[in-house]
This record gives sequence, structure tokens and C-alpha cells, in this order.
Amino acid sequence: MPQLAARVGRAKPSAIMQVADKAKRLKSEGRDIISFSIGVPNFLPGSHVYAAAREALEHDSGQYGSNRGPDALLDAFCEHLGKIGLTGYGRVNVATGVGAKHVIYNLAEVLLDEGDTIAFPTPYWTSYVDIAEIVGAKIDLLPCRAEQNYKLTPAQLDEALARKPRVFLFNNPSNPTGMVYSKDEIAALADVIAKHPDTWIITDDIYNQMVFDGVGYHNFVHARPELRDRVIFIDSLSKTYGMPGWRVGFMAGPEIVAQAVVTMNSNHITNLPEVTTAAAVAALIGPQDVPQQKCAEFEQKRDQVMAIMSGLPGVVCPRPQGAFYVFPDVSALFGKTHGPSGTTVANDVDFCNALLETKGVACVPGSAFGEPRALRISYTCPTPQLEPGLQRFAEFVRQLA
Ligand SMILES: Cc1ncc(COP(=O)(O)O)c(C=O)c1O
Repeated sequence: MPQLAARVGRAKPSAIMQVADKAKRLKSEGRDIISFSIGVPNFLPGSHVYAAAREALEHDSGQYGSNRGPDALLDAFCEHLGKIGLTGYGRVNVATGVGAKHVIYNLAEVLLDEGDTIAFPTPYWTSYVDIAEIVGAKIDLLPCRAEQNYKLTPAQLDEALARKPRVFLFNNPSNPTGMVYSKDEIAALADVIAKHPDTWIITDDIYNQMVFDGVGYHNFVHARPELRDRVIFIDSLSKTYGMPGWRVGFMAGPEIVAQAVVTMNSNHITNLPEVTTAAAVAALIGPQDVPQQKCAEFEQKRDQVMAIMSGLPGVVCPRPQGAFYVFPDVSALFGKTHGPSGTTVANDVDFCNALLETKGVACVPGSAFGEPRALRISYTCPTPQLEPGLQRFAEFVRQLA
């Protein structure tokens, strides 16, 4: 039998989906399961988005579209960029893709030759590793532990960029930690980036509309406008607008990079569907009350989660200020035994398995994000499930001895 390409062996199935699948299976067996596992926003976009999709269906051309994206969508995205202080980007600086994941994949293909290095902080969003491995890049992981609030320091970045990676990939607000870099922290990192001109910077900031406590969203280009020659900003409708299944992602950056992504699109997907792009335009330029309400709701839920986490023995949980995740470090509990079930919890995977089996609460082991001392809680579940889920989590921790 002929063989598959070697790159397929480098791509792993998602650890997050494995937990979600196990939770689903237990649920189908009649167990009462509360899922804190998948990072989906769990709300639908406003009715104007569906109205725009229906309208587009009525007038659908049925034809191939632009590889970059239709002008109306590019203009809507540029307008959106202006609202977050990223001004001066035109159609030539922008490209679309089938979700941010696809845009990042395209960027990996256009920026990284086989054997080039991509550097990024841990904890990281799982797909970064898989995408880098598929394109044959070397990965330089920059560990950011709970003690440093999971944030990269300027000194760490300076050391990493001195090794001259082709790409530095940054994520703010972060999945899985929910941490948000302050204006001063971004400025300090931007100063370091300015000293190292040989590296492309990708800022995966798809949670930029989900920032709490009034800290605001800050980007390297806000801090140092001259970096726009090397900084590539990533955005998506998935989380902000409750549209993960619609699959619309964006990049904004140097013209040459946007053009290269468009060339990839012309060979991979040709174009996003007309109905989808009409819905995307409506989401971006229409009423923003749904995303604003959801951001306020997630901030409240963050407070609810932290009220429990901060009182738990052996749990160190830096306070997140964005997205919809918390990432408690539970490593002080490793080696303990869960009294009622007699299960010893040696590591994050054991912890999550025992928690799911004994309390019916699904979380994702931190090793899926390169930090095996922790686990991820995604708190977008229906509000009535949040408190019982947290109480079960707390009970599980208190039963470890
Ligand atoms: C940090 C981060 N980047 C990118 C993505 C991919 O988003 P999309 O649904 O637009 O592909 C996700 C999705 O979970 C994410 O958390």
C-alpha cells in the first residue's frame, strides 16, 4: 500500500476534542456532565447577521469570488481595525480566511521555510504547535509560569529574538490563560521587538473585544507604529460575535504578506462563500450590543470563577482579564489521592480524568497547552451550570489528601 506523506504523522488529533468526546460519551450514558472543556462562546450573533445572510441568499451570484475577500468585507474589517486604534490599513493590507486558524496556517506557509524557527510563549494555543510541525518549522518555546502570571517578560523576549527566529507568535488576550498584557507591558515588549529587525511578529489577538476591568486592548503597533512593517495582526468573528461555525478570520499587516496569503487562498480555498461574507459584514458594521453584553457577562463569570479558585488549597490561579478561560496551576496537588474514589492524581491528565469520572466536570489538561502543571477551565457554559460545576471542582480538590 502506498504511504501517507510524512507531515501527516506530525499532525496530532486535538487533545481538547478528546476530552470533549469523553464528556459527550459519559453524557450519552446518562451521566450528569458539566463541560468546562471546549473554547466556544456559546451564544448566537444578533438577528441582523441572519437577516444579512438571508438577503445575500436571495441575491446570490453563485460565482467564484475574490481570493482576498469581497471589498465590502475588507472595508468593514478596516473600519473595525480603526475602532481599535489600528488605523491606516487599506484593502491591500488585509486578507481573509476560513477562520483565524486557516489564516495562521497560511501565514506559517508563507513565512516559514522547513527548518526555520518559530518562537512563542507557553502556555500556548494548541494549534500553534501542530501547524508549526506540519510545515516543518523548529519551535522555540518560551516558558511563562503561573508565578509570572503566564506573561512573557521583556528579558525573555530579548533572549528569544537574539536567537533570530523567523517568526515570533504572540497571543493577547491568551487562550488558555485569559491573561491580558497592559499598555505598559506591550510597550516594553514592543521596545524589545524594535531592536530585532529580522523577525516577523504575528499577534493572534482574536479575543481583543473581550477585555475586562477597563484595561483595554493594546498592540505592538499602538506602542510603536513603525513596527507595522513586520507585525501581522490576526482577528476572527468566532469568539467576538458568537460565530465559530461561520469560519471567518482575518489578517492585517504588510502588503507583501497579505498578498502572499491571498496567493495561498487562490490555491486552497479560492474564496469565502458569498452568504458568509455578507453575514460577516453585518456582524462587523452592525449593532455591537450582543458582543458588548457577552463581554460584560464573561467578566461577571470570571469573577464567579475566581471567587472559588482563589480560596482553594493547593490551587494557584492568576486572575485573567480577558477571553473566557482560567488556567489554575494545580501542581501542588499532584501525588495526592482522591479519598472517595481512591484515585491517585499524579499529573494533569489524571486530575482531569478523575474530576470527570467522579464529579462529572470536564476540563482540559494543561499539557495540551504546553503547561502540565495546570488545567484549563472554559467558563462559557450556561450560567445555571457554572456555580454547581465550580462547587464540584472545589469539592474534588478538598477531597484530595
Ligand atoms: C488563540 C486562538 N487563536 C485562533 C483560534 C482559531 O479561531 P477560528 O475559529 O477563527 O479559527 C482560536 C480558537 O480557539 C484561539 O483560541
